Amino acid sequence: MADLSVDLGFCRLKNPLIPASGTFGYGEEFSPFMDLDILGALVLKGIYKDARPGNPPPRLCETPAGLLNSIGLAGPGADELQNVIRHLGAATRTPIIVNVCGQDDGEFAEVAAIFAAMPEVAMLELNISCPNVKKGGVCPAQDDKHTFRLVKLVKAHINKPLIVKLSPNAVDIVAVARSAQEAGADALSLVNTFLGLAVDLEKRRPVFANTLAGLSGPAIKPLALKLVWEVCRQVRIPVIGMGGITSGRDVLEYILVGAAAVQFGTVNFCEPAAAVRILAELEKEMERLQINSLAEIKGKLQV
Ligand SMILES: Cc1cc2nc3c(=O)[nH]c(=O)nc-3n(C[C@H](O)[C@H](O)[C@H](O)COP(=O)(O)O)c2cc1C
Repeated sequence: MADLSVDLGFCRLKNPLIPASGTFGYGEEFSPFMDLDILGALVLKGIYKDARPGNPPPRLCETPAGLLNSIGLAGPGADELQNVIRHLGAATRTPIIVNVCGQDDGEFAEVAAIFAAMPEVAMLELNISCPNVKKGGVCPAQDDKHTFRLVKLVKAHINKPLIVKLSPNAVDIVAVARSAQEAGADALSLVNTFLGLAVDLEKRRPVFANTLAGLSGPAIKPLALKLVWEVCRQVRIPVIGMGGITSGRDVLEYILVGAAAVQFGTVNFCEPAAAVRILAELEKEMERLQINSLAEIKGKLQV
């Protein structure tokens, strides 16, 4: 059987499949659909220090081959999530990744320190694509200098590997990626959702209260694949690619452009056991294409 393991430098995962933040709840919601131990790792829904109700409805709007969301990072807050993680850690051996959010740099560092101290948490993912309320909705990932400052600050507060999650809405995502690397990020993950607009023609208003929302799903795959390819060529640290993955073939495409591992999000909503199918397809495709290990094809796109 082909070798599905992947090397993130600071750790090895048994396979590259990681459910994406915000699309896999807090892990245990998906245990009726699969053995969580089949996953390479899993990312929990983004968390702030305090509980948040999120945005008013509607929060989701389907588009052709995609999904717009404006959840507003609803969540129970850091205290409650620690209890959830203790439970989840006892239920699975799969590495748990906490997706850290903050309204300002201090909150990012505080939340990161809380979860880095938990033995059940393998690594953190810094969601620098969420709006910084104090700066009027700007997210740190839009600015390479802010990204550098923030990643450096968070790294000083933790002793666990840090994945920095980038936004496709940055003007120059490669500059932001390089800044995160120089500030000490152990890996990058990309992409978060693309900003989009849904219009209610009858009401002549935007569908969402916040006007703009985040687009994910198969509609973004070619755009995301391009950004992952560009960033992989310009950084030394591992990149976790995502955007519209729904099949084993999609996974191989991301590895071929240089990703070390992948995350898959929106597909979990229409098919809760998607991971089981994607894993089986990945094995079958590797056999058909005579690929013995993922390392063999990583970054081998010929252009
Ligand atoms: C409903 C929903 C909620 C999300 N919540 C988060 C979140 O809490 N933190 C985060 O970093 N990304 C969040 N994302 C972005 C996903 O993790 C992922 O980056 C994006 O959906 C692209 O992957 P996909 O096309 O496979 O869904 C969310 C996406 C969706 C659709």
